[in-house]
Amino acid sequence: MAGNQQVTASSGRAARLSAFDAAARPLVTPSLLNCDFSKVGEELDALKAAGVLAVHLDVMDGHFVPNLSYGPPVIADWRKRTDFPFDTHLMMSDPARYVDAFAAAGCDVIIFHIEAVPHPVPLARRIRHLGCQASIALNPPTAVEAILPYLDEVDAVLVMSVMPGFGGQVFDATVLDKVRALRAARPSLKISIDGGIKPDTATLAVSAGATQLVAGSAVFRNPGNYAAALAELGEGARRGSHQ
Ligand code: DX5
Ligand code: ZN
Repeated sequence: MAGNQQVTASSGRAARLSAFDAAARPLVTPSLLNCDFSKVGEELDALKAAGVLAVHLDVMDGHFVPNLSYGPPVIADWRKRTDFPFDTHLMMSDPARYVDAFAAAGCDVIIFHIEAVPHPVPLARRIRHLGCQASIALNPPTAVEAILPYLDEVDAVLVMSVMPGFGGQVFDATVLDKVRALRAARPSLKISIDGGIKPDTATLAVSAGATQLVAGSAVFRNPGNYAAALAELGEGARRGSHQ
């Protein structure tokens, strides 16, 4: 059974990643951290009905960040329920130990932190070898220079606009300089931003060069009815594209 699940999880990945790549940018990806975990299947259906094209999964190990969430067995069950591309944010001290399990569970983009993996090339290559896209994240205090040497080794970057670990924090606008620096360094780089995204901060982030906006509390503020929140975030993002 585990073998069959593995085949299912990986055989749909190429289609999921091409759908993810084809989605118009800026793209809003809801973080499931703020959903109702007693009924994630229904939450996924509600997000799909609201027009969501991909979701962001926040994995916390209680060590790299002071919080715990979920891991591969839980994600594997969600994968049976949905074809959403899974943008998987590993807030973990030792992501290399678990990437094969996350790929087998049906993750598509695998994001790890430069603060946890200061020599990221082997891990980025391993993630790509598994058929996933690799992305590298950096926390607000980390200088952008820490990841600039590795941009050819990854498919995207994730700029944290809060210290990771919890939803519902306030956006740190000082990280926008890093988004601008990355955009200047790579005009076509996929740049995600994560933490404190609301319609107004979505405008700032997109105007600085972000192409993907991770939003948790702003999407899930009104349980079960996500279309209005997503429309407001999309409108905020579009304003940024025109600045
Ligand atoms: C923070 C996570 C985020 C977060 C987003 O540790 O990586 O994805 O849950 O939540 P909001 O949008 O509420 O900041
Ligand atoms: Zn995240």
